[in-house]
Amino acid sequence: MDSIRVVGGNRLNGTIPISGAKNAALPLMIASLLTEEELILENVPHLADVESLIRILTNHGVDYHVAGKRRAHANQQGRNIAFRAAEIVDTTAPYELVSKMRASFWVIGPLLARMHKARVSLPGGCAIGTRPVDLFIASLEAMGAAIDIDHGYAVASAPGGLKGADFTFAKVSVGATHVAMMAATLARGKTVLRNAAREPEVVDLANCLTAMGARISGAGTGTITIEGVEALHGARHRVLPDRIETGTYAMAVAMTGGEVLLQDAEAALLQNALDVLIKAGVEVEERNDGLRIARNGAAIRPVNIVTEPFPGFPTDLQAQFMALMTQAEGDSIIRETIFENRFMHVQELARLGARIGLDGQTATVHGPSRLCGAQVMATDLRASVSLVMAGLAAEGETMITRVYHLDRGFEHLEQKLSACGADIQRLSH
Ligand code: UD1
Repeated sequence: MDSIRVVGGNRLNGTIPISGAKNAALPLMIASLLTEEELILENVPHLADVESLIRILTNHGVDYHVAGKRRAHANQQGRNIAFRAAEIVDTTAPYELVSKMRASFWVIGPLLARMHKARVSLPGGCAIGTRPVDLFIASLEAMGAAIDIDHGYAVASAPGGLKGADFTFAKVSVGATHVAMMAATLARGKTVLRNAAREPEVVDLANCLTAMGARISGAGTGTITIEGVEALHGARHRVLPDRIETGTYAMAVAMTGGEVLLQDAEAALLQNALDVLIKAGVEVEERNDGLRIARNGAAIRPVNIVTEPFPGFPTDLQAQFMALMTQAEGDSIIRETIFENRFMHVQELARLGARIGLDGQTATVHGPSRLCGAQVMATDLRASVSLVMAGLAAEGETMITRVYHLDRGFEHLEQKLSACGADIQRLSH
């Protein structure tokens, strides 16, 4: 199993290219199941989660084709991948494949919409709370599906096809919004989804579905309206930049000091987190080619945050922000409201010398702490990267084990950081 070794103390200076968003690429790939024609996605990141989903899609009968190297392409640029579900030969998504990544459960929507049946294993994924699937099931049932849970599988059928519905999500869910929206594109009649997620990745998926012939309005607001159509067709779509990767590197620069251009980053995708960084004393400048992030000498000020659905502060940046706040001149309070078990990084950050008090869903970070390198363990995707960041700011060597979590979501992490002066290496055992 690979480890990552970081020797802290270097400032970050240079340019980091921002990849296509993992959380957009996954639902976009799944949307290829909705049509027999080809869906070409540009800027798909190289990530373990993308590979896992390719395995699931090919098991349903999807063919895929990765475009070859292009002149002038830096090797850190995302790939163009064409997906074609000419014929869906299997409507079962088995446990061995789905258990690797929660988002693979989302195939249930397109399979039901196009094939009128699906048998999908209940998901696994990051161990950050119970993460149930009740919202997916309730929305698909509202569209006329019958769903049973049988031996760890959701077994769904909609003989005659799905029907449009007026459905209100009891809680905001990104995944359930993606799935209900995809399913509704091929349902008979009109669907209205209320209390829908407003995340940029939902808008990206809606844009792609629209390019495929779907009739969708309101994506990006709490109410999405979909007029079902007979069939969708092929399209070409570029995956939007990764706002979580952007925020992560912005916080890393804030932590180590220095100045970095986050190439292709879009401020509007993470305005709330950028405003928090500005409050903390970080320079943020929006440019045509991306975002310039700098901290040169200024102290880090403590800022309190509460994680919320978009446009609030993203839960996927909570661990990274906590790492940053260990260096702030005072106490900060971080409240997690999206997932109930998303503080596993606290114990690991403590091993590096952070002082963090936990009370239920609220953490109090006592800054500033002198961090010293140690051996730590990656627990989930975002928590892992917070340990890398802490390692960059710590004295001496930090060894992070179980880095397969990082590979699920951060493309070329070591290369991107070392190109900006970080002392970071991957050790393969
Ligand atoms: C997506 C993101 C993940 C991010 C999360 C919240 C992807 C691939 N993953 O995950 O990185 O952390 O949004 O921004 O895009 N819930 C239920 N019942 C359900 C579904 C969800 O109670 O049927 C709950 C969850 O347990 C959680 C909350 O709703 O407490 C939000 O989860 P959700 O938005 O669904 O997260 P994901 O789509 O899994």
